[in-house]
Amino acid sequence: MSATDSRPELLLTGPMMPMIEAQLTERFTVHRLDGTDPEAVLAQAGPRIRAVATGVGSTAGGKRRVTGDLLARLPKVEIVANFGVGYDAVDTDAAAERGIVVTNTPGVLDDEVADLSVALLLATIRRLPQAERHLRAGLWPKGGFPLTPTLRDRTIGIVGMGRIGRAIARRLEGFGRPIVYHSRRPVADVPYRHYPSLVEMARDADALIVIVPGGPETNNMINAEVLAALGPTGTLINVARGSVVDEPALIKALTEGTIASAGLDVFADEPNVPEALIAMDNVVLLPHVASATHVTRNAMGQLVVDNLAAWFEGRPPLTPVPETPVPARV
Ligand code: NAP
Ligand code: 8YV
Repeated sequence: MSATDSRPELLLTGPMMPMIEAQLTERFTVHRLDGTDPEAVLAQAGPRIRAVATGVGSTAGGKRRVTGDLLARLPKVEIVANFGVGYDAVDTDAAAERGIVVTNTPGVLDDEVADLSVALLLATIRRLPQAERHLRAGLWPKGGFPLTPTLRDRTIGIVGMGRIGRAIARRLEGFGRPIVYHSRRPVADVPYRHYPSLVEMARDADALIVIVPGGPETNNMINAEVLAALGPTGTLINVARGSVVDEPALIKALTEGTIASAGLDVFADEPNVPEALIAMDNVVLLPHVASATHVTRNAMGQLVVDNLAAWFEGRPPLTPVPETPVPARV
């Protein structure tokens, strides 16, 4: 940073897409926390940092990336821009207490994530990866792939009827199956039955698609009781956060036949996936790819940059999260 450089100083908590880093470098003096000596970066630049860009991957092992402790080392920080609609890696309570605005990337990924969710549902029930493995292993000439369960006889329960839950439901309408949902409050303008009780919905549904935010409120909400209610022909699809599912309880339920199958895009301790899951034949496992296309990740990245640009041009951020109100500025 030169003595005449008046650009605001920004902290990157980890590597971000080149299109994001290139734009940030043009507008900000960028400091990186992912180098060899993050302590030195915080000690030297921390007092001058005014913005944080974060959100590569999700929380690992439930750990937050932008903690209250980190924010306390950045006394001048005004805004934290998160890459991802889910911002469970940011301690929004600590941010709100200090008047820091947090932004996320809602809306621009709804269709992409909904497409993937439906693909994962079908892949899991119809055992598509397993069928492909059968062919590639040269087993077809020796015998056809075994018949599979079907979507045809299922009621589908969506856990979370927000932006993405609705996009999933709209797609599933085309499959002609009953759709029900669970959230804390019923949604006024959807035609699906609302269940205030997740366990009751799991009892009535034959497949659950989980698409709620991560964080303390939803931690392990898909627990042994919910899995038992889903039952031995049931399928669980998790495209939300690994923290939402009690992973040991899920492994036990899959092993003991308490439920039939699972399709998982997210895990409790990413990128580490339990060996027990990897060894199972009744699961489809994806490395957190629901939004991972060029078009959608670019749109998310642009929103990260645009939120920061708006803030430092004196305009309101485009997509602040509700927990951190935007302070009035003179
Ligand atoms: P959203 O619009 O805020 O919707 C969240 C939904 O979850 C709402 O229906 C909300 O309803 C419900 N909900 C929240 N807390 C709940 C609780 N404690 N119990 C029951 N329902 C609860 O969010 P979105 O844009 O659809 O995104 C949802 C989440 O998907 C993100 O936060 C992120 O973690 C995850 N996601 C994952 C990927 C991926 O790559 N796999 C991609 C995008 C998003 P109530 O408030 O009425 O309860
Ligand atoms: C991203 C996501 O893969 O938006 C979210 O909440 O989980 C995904 O779209 C992730 O945030 C990328 O870091």
